[in-house]
Amino acid sequence: MATKNMDAAKKNKADEFYTQLSDIEAELRHYKEQFYGKTVLCNCDDPYESNFFKYFAMNFNHLGLKKLIATCYAPSPIAYTQLSLFDDEKVITANKRKAYKIEITQIGDYNGDGATDLVDVDLLLKNKENALSFLNEDGDFRSEECINLLKEADVVVTNPPFSLFREYVAQLIEYNKNFIIIGNTNALTYKEIFHLFKENKIRTGNTKFNVGMYFSVPNDFEKYHKIENGKKYVRVSTTCWFTSLPVNKHNEFLTLYKHYSPEEYPHYDNYNAINVDKATDIPCDYVGEMGVPITFLDKYNPDQFEIVALGIVGSINFTCEKKMEILKDGVPTGQYTINAKGTLYKKYNPSTDTKPPAFRDCETGTLYSSIYARIIIRRKQQ
Ligand SMILES: C[S@@+](CC[C@H](N)C(=O)[O-])C[C@H]1O[C@@H](n2cnc3c(N)ncnc32)[C@H](O)[C@@H]1O
Repeated sequence: MATKNMDAAKKNKADEFYTQLSDIEAELRHYKEQFYGKTVLCNCDDPYESNFFKYFAMNFNHLGLKKLIATCYAPSPIAYTQLSLFDDEKVITANKRKAYKIEITQIGDYNGDGATDLVDVDLLLKNKENALSFLNEDGDFRSEECINLLKEADVVVTNPPFSLFREYVAQLIEYNKNFIIIGNTNALTYKEIFHLFKENKIRTGNTKFNVGMYFSVPNDFEKYHKIENGKKYVRVSTTCWFTSLPVNKHNEFLTLYKHYSPEEYPHYDNYNAINVDKATDIPCDYVGEMGVPITFLDKYNPDQFEIVALGIVGSINFTCEKKMEILKDGVPTGQYTINAKGTLYKKYNPSTDTKPPAFRDCETGTLYSSIYARIIIRRKQQ
């Protein structure tokens, strides 16, 4: 129980990773036309802390937005850390926080300096009563009033709490909303998310996959990777953008230049597909199913390939059920498994495999390498 609680606490820490403006700008600059005349909702975003809100407020006129809505989640540890907005709000105390929303339908040059920027947003919020209002509930994206805001939105853009990622995406799909959101690349292998890739309802964004991003974290975080200008940052190497909107790279055809040979592309022993170690090595002349690394999804063009399944038990049916001894660093452990713990496997080849074998067939003594994290794909006829 204690371990479970600790795991949950660790997992929920990632719910408080705040996105840098530079990362948001780098991704969102690719969608300018998609925002024109649209209502954008940032529904996990304390407007005074969130760079998503800042980005859209600063670019409101440039993007030609119809409306910008941001909602703050009252239990968030950073809510109300910027109290200037509430100078006159005597009802609010640190232990009785209320969630609020900001809705903007226009931003003018209120200070007359010839530009519309965050100073104007600040003036707008201080002077126009309608822009800011309190929510009755706590700002949970699943609450009824937040769902009503979702219904009003055309595009949802945010970095949602990682621990609620499945639920968050399911809600976007349920309400048929376009979205551009940040998530962990591990989410690609969640059954529900993978299914959306298969149905072409989600794709990776423009930012290079798995390059990692630094997120700012609350000051009381003890583990962090750097401090800049007094702010703590955590680096997450497995981060990517997920979107329902078109992304050019997913319309590009991968240039396939390699030719199939049984030596270079061995078959799995428990599923009828060949193993391909890099997406760029996909053979141009193989028509059957192929197992490729998860990173393939960042290059996936639905006109070129069909996604068949995830290469794990439950997603595909394995064709044999061998009893095998588990090896650790190639050495027998005295522990046994049926079907390689539910992963794909192929015969161990000492001249090409860089890792020692993972399993040994109890009957024949044949050695096998297990192949993790594969997606089964097939080329479409062109
Ligand atoms: C990963 S942080 C990102 C914050 C902001 N979107 C950004 O990118 O900087 C997720 C935020 O969602 C808030 N949050 C957690 N659970 C939530 C919920 N159920 N509904 C809405 N927001 C929630 C967290 O407190 C946190 O502020």
